[in-house]
Amino acid sequence: MAVYSVTVNGVKTSLTADDPNTPLLYLLQEQLQLMGPKYGCGLGQCGACTVLANGQPIRSCITAVADVAGMTLLSIEGLGTTANPHPLQQAFISQQAMQCGYCLSGPMLYGKAFIDANPGATADQINAALGQTQLICRCNSYPRMLHALALYAQGKTA
Ligand code: FES
Repeated sequence: MAVYSVTVNGVKTSLTADDPNTPLLYLLQEQLQLMGPKYGCGLGQCGACTVLANGQPIRSCITAVADVAGMTLLSIEGLGTTANPHPLQQAFISQQAMQCGYCLSGPMLYGKAFIDANPGATADQINAALGQTQLICRCNSYPRMLHALALYAQGKTA
């Protein structure tokens, strides 16, 4: 059994696994009870399992735990709270930018990473950037997610 030190949503912790290739997603769910990152395809295709690792989006279903040792991880649970939501979450809420919400980790965290690196990004730039990520939303909320991200990029929440 190996122990991997990580910081998850601002808290230093450790993950344990017999196999260093154990997918990060399994350990986030089973050992830290973080259910924001979802198991969608398990193949790195849909993005439902997205988390940020040192600020960069990764697909945790195909990321080995050993590859994130020592890193700072952020899941959507770490963005804000119900009482004090992150401005990006406020924008998603105001635009009703989800239906089932299963895929939410992907567009929210890929969008956040892009906007953090490109402050003031336009809606077209955000659309183009997320278009490269092959995120899959199955419930038709994707245009509203893009609109929420564009609001956030302009410093607005509604
Ligand atoms: Fe990881 Fe689909 S569950 S990309």
